[in-house]
Amino acid sequence: EKKEHVALYQMHQEAQKIYSYYLNTKLGLEAKIYLLNRHFTDELIKEFQIGYAPIDPVLHTAFTKLEYSEIDMVKSGLVIESNNHFDRFNDRIMFPLFNQQGQVVGFSGRIYKPTQTDSKYMNSPESDIFIKGQTLYHYHQCREAVKKAGFVYLLEGFMDVIAMYKAGIENTVAIMGTALTKGHIQALRRLTNHIYLCLDGDHAGQVAMSKAARELEEAGFKVQIIILPDGHDPDEIYEEHGQSGLEEALRKTMKPIEFLMDFEYQLVDSLNYDDRKNYLEKMCFEITQIKDDIDRDYYMHVLSQKSGFSYDIIQQRVAGMKPRAE
Ligand code: CTP
Ligand code: MN
Ligand code: MN
Ligand code: MN
Ligand code: MN
Repeated sequence: EKKEHVALYQMHQEAQKIYSYYLNTKLGLEAKIYLLNRHFTDELIKEFQIGYAPIDPVLHTAFTKLEYSEIDMVKSGLVIESNNHFDRFNDRIMFPLFNQQGQVVGFSGRIYKPTQTDSKYMNSPESDIFIKGQTLYHYHQCREAVKKAGFVYLLEGFMDVIAMYKAGIENTVAIMGTALTKGHIQALRRLTNHIYLCLDGDHAGQVAMSKAARELEEAGFKVQIIILPDGHDPDEIYEEHGQSGLEEALRKTMKPIEFLMDFEYQLVDSLNYDDRKNYLEKMCFEITQIKDDIDRDYYMHVLSQKSGFSYDIIQQRVAGMKPRAE
């Protein structure tokens, strides 16, 4: 922790307290009701330190009283400079984002009423203390649970982490979007080598999983994939089907190769020969990555059945390809 960053950390800690305070005032009432409708309890709100940013620039006022410089305020990302200085976050439900040491380094703010038409989430900009590509939501809180379970669920959104928490599952982190970065992979390495990848079940989530599964396997992780039904995310499953429904959905795991074969096959135009051949080449390459002989042989058979190309040609292709360098 560099000395010149002390003020930035302090301002974030201050901001978290101020936002928490406003959630329980009249100004935050509608936001609070939104949270209650999504089955947040006071205990959950406290656990995840959720707050509310009112319309007025409460941070700028507080920071001025505390004698922070406007340069530092702007550096923190919490205050914006134009003609005047004002708060970045207005009229949003605020989720603090923590670094790997558990310090607040940024926020994500959610809209909560139908009249709000700007983007659903607004995030802190990157700063000296906040690097989005190194931030995994719930990272510093999940360690014990990950150790106990032996793996971590890698999720898309923090609402999903919170839904899992409601269901008693704490070995979770969220990448806060679908972009898995090198920085995330490094952080995951320090946590566990076993990952259950469970991004949203919609198309975007599945595209992201096909990419992330390859990258994580390449990085040496043992990976399992969970496709949630109806294009849902864990929060939606929990809301619709409760704890037992979520637990049941999480039990249906696949190996990455199984997922990739199915997922990529959906994108193939089965009447187009070149498309099918291209699929074959791609899947042969994926099979080449499998280390166990028996598994490799088994999936060559599966691929033959699925693609309509002969087992012999698949075997020949796989034998001629090199696995990715490690
Ligand atoms: N996200 C973001 N900005 C957006 C949309 C999404 O930063 N405009 C990030 C958020 O961190 C969010 C994650 O991507 O948690 C996943 O997006 P999405 O699935 O759309 O949101 P949910 O987590 O499902 O949020 P909610 O249930 O509140 O709609
Ligand atoms: Mn999504
Ligand atoms: Mn459903
Ligand atoms: Mn989602
Ligand atoms: Mn959701």
